[in-house]
Amino acid sequence: MRTHYCADLNEKDIDKEVTLCGWANSYRDHGGVIFIDLRDRSGLIQLVCDPADNEEAHKIATRVRDEYVLIAKGKVRLRGEGLENPKLKTGKIEIVVNELKIENRSEPLPFMVGDENVSEEIKLKYRYLDLRNKKSYETFRLRSKAAVAARNFLDENGFLEVETPVLTKSTPEGARDYLVPSRLYPGEFYALPQSPQLFKQLLMVSGFDRYFQIAKCFRDEDLRADRQPEFTQIDVEMSFCTEDEVMRIAEGLIKRVFSSCGINIETPFKRLTYKEAMENYGSDKPDLRFDLKLVDVIDIFENTKLKVFREIAQFKKLNRIKALPVPEGDKLTRKEIDELTNFVMKFGAKGLAWVKVKENSELQGPIVKFLSDEEKESLIKRCGAKSGDLIFFGAGSKKVVLDYMGRLRDRLGDLLGLKDSNRYEFLWVVDFPMFEIEEGEVKVKALHHPFTMPKNIDEDDIEDITSQAYDMVLNGIELGGGSIRIHKLDIQKKVFDILGIKEEEANEKFGFLLEALKFGAPPHGGFAIGFDRLIMLLAKKDSIRDVIAFPKTQKAQCLLTNAPSKVEKEQLKELHLRIRDRKNETH
Ligand code: AMO
Ligand code: AMP
Repeated sequence: MRTHYCADLNEKDIDKEVTLCGWANSYRDHGGVIFIDLRDRSGLIQLVCDPADNEEAHKIATRVRDEYVLIAKGKVRLRGEGLENPKLKTGKIEIVVNELKIENRSEPLPFMVGDENVSEEIKLKYRYLDLRNKKSYETFRLRSKAAVAARNFLDENGFLEVETPVLTKSTPEGARDYLVPSRLYPGEFYALPQSPQLFKQLLMVSGFDRYFQIAKCFRDEDLRADRQPEFTQIDVEMSFCTEDEVMRIAEGLIKRVFSSCGINIETPFKRLTYKEAMENYGSDKPDLRFDLKLVDVIDIFENTKLKVFREIAQFKKLNRIKALPVPEGDKLTRKEIDELTNFVMKFGAKGLAWVKVKENSELQGPIVKFLSDEEKESLIKRCGAKSGDLIFFGAGSKKVVLDYMGRLRDRLGDLLGLKDSNRYEFLWVVDFPMFEIEEGEVKVKALHHPFTMPKNIDEDDIEDITSQAYDMVLNGIELGGGSIRIHKLDIQKKVFDILGIKEEEANEKFGFLLEALKFGAPPHGGFAIGFDRLIMLLAKKDSIRDVIAFPKTQKAQCLLTNAPSKVEKEQLKELHLRIRDRKNETH
């Protein structure tokens, strides 16, 4: 119906006859002449309905209200001297309307389009109205461009787009499954895929060589700002490839997506081993936009008078004493230090010792009286500390100390304004341990998934077995990950063995994959990028909800449709299900 989008018009279009379609963003009656700001996805333009120009159109314009749907025909003209609106892209021009049609009316909206001060609950309930604003549209335009760029890049590199099932069997990404009851098979269930992992491996056995899919994944886990129960991955798998080759494809893909959004990024990305990341940054997804680094100081405290530290320093393999030197940290107030202490104590810290570095390398702080001159000197030297710095200390068991010191580092990045939102610091974390043993538990878990190829499966200590897995990190967020997979049955069996997965259980759960490995499975590997997270970072949003058209709340509800919701008794019966009446249960 339209000839142009509103905001695509400019001074070059003067005197053109145009037809525009959209919504009345606002209207003003100025002594008989009516001005309407017409809005479509491109932006706004001013319509002028003057009875002197066209009586009929003006008469219709008197009935227009906010958010009415309009089709307007008219002529583009320059606004008069002094009447320009510098806030509008089209502020130098306007449309003299000679035909106006009210295509549909609108009740007053529950909130103004684009109003930022509306609760998220209301916005999600009326998500389609929230999406009417230009900023939302821009976000989804960016998302669409990014998806097209990804597709083009993968297509150019010989990857075949293949869809894999959504009604399937449980896949092992470590979250809880969403289950779908089967009508035809009483008591049996499909699971929604946590990722297409096993199917993409099967496609490699088929000889497809290079696969990709922009795939929906479903995980029933505790939600956070960067997690949704259903989310999208750019999922990739390739055959006869090394770790390096897979990582190069992933980098090329990300580079292309960024460049489609006008941002140039440098490849190859930095690499850190898992161990380096944990020991230096206390995280397997460190934010490298700022330089704060943990420093090992456990040996300095071997004979210290500070009893807690001395005791901890006796067990160097199990424990850590980490210093976190903060340049110009003496700006931090006592109150801020106390808040940081309370913060780390939530994550198992027993305390948070600190010293301030004064002129002439003098130290100040609650633990200084316990330190010998030699200890002080070593600390200053090891930390490269200067006057004005502040050094935090975390001491305790390795896992706990690394975790809370990493969180402290991240928190300081916020507090000291060190996170430049215009910088993109990419990083690969490599050489992950293959297995993870929960503290205080005997159960061994696969750190990635059990189909990841180990580097050294025959190592005596299973904690020393590393895997050919890699995570892509951007600004402190895990953007994606992948691995080279096991393609030989005997290695797969060894891994199941270590994980305590019995043959029967393995056959029951992944029998189809194990069988496929018997029929000439090629070496293969791949990765998946969290597409929502990628767009969240590109669009500089704080939550992935902002980049998903119809997202769920933190409590996994869709406020727009009211899902999940009750179903008819009949439906349950067909599915052979009965809802337990918890109130009347005796146990
Ligand atoms: P992984 O489980 O690491 O790997 O997932 C890959 C990426 O998906 C994103 N992601 C999520 N995004 C939003 N909400 C969630 N709940 C969520 N969970 C994960 C993350 C993550 O890095 N099959 C393997 C990939 C492979 O080995 O090829 C897999 O799914 O950005
Ligand atoms: P205390 O002697 O218990 O008063 O502790 C002296 C300082 O060391 C205080 O600032 C505590 O917060 C800190 N502290 C105590 N235990 C630890 C620990 N395990 N790691 C880091 N700091 C600690």
